[in-house]
Amino acid sequence: MRDRPLVLITGASAGIGAEFARQYAARGWDVALTARRAERLKTLANDLKTEYGTQAYLIAQDLAAPDGVSAILDAVERTGRNVDGLVNNAGYGLPGTFFNTDWSDQADFLRVLYTAPV
Ligand SMILES: NC(=O)c1ccc[n+]([C@@H]2O[C@H](COP(=O)([O-])OP(=O)(O)OC[C@H]3O[C@@H](n4cnc5c(N)ncnc54)[C@H](OP(=O)(O)O)[C@@H]3O)[C@@H](O)[C@H]2O)c1
Repeated sequence: MRDRPLVLITGASAGIGAEFARQYAARGWDVALTARRAERLKTLANDLKTEYGTQAYLIAQDLAAPDGVSAILDAVERTGRNVDGLVNNAGYGLPGTFFNTDWSDQADFLRVLYTAPV
């Protein structure tokens, strides 16, 4: 159905992101689910389809990868749908102090928590 709104949710494979997907689905939205763990996205999509008749688009991408965001945008474009809502949820904490953390970990962190949402 094309008159249903579509929300893009990052970090939908677990926790708060998965719950956002359930809440939107329960309110009649279709969902584009992104995270790295494709199997978890698939399980969630099947549950939402069964429970609410939701159309779910699965986009398994790493937001820390330099081309992660553009790959997600390309995948959304291929659906032919407009994105009506965005939940910038993917993220995590980096343990330790800034000075004790490798730059590569800091750079990944900045891509996931700052660059990707923007
Ligand atoms: N829970 C809290 O109390 C709390 C408090 C303050 C802020 N937050 C923030 O709220 C958000 C959700 O928290 P949560 O507790 O639901 O965390 P969670 O259960 O650990 O889930 C994090 C989600 O982010 C995704 N993710 C992490 N790194 C990623 C990457 N490089 N590329 C793509 N996806 C990535 C994970 O998917 P994959 O591993 O499958 O990629 C997962 O779906 C996070 O941004 C967190 O920092 C949470």
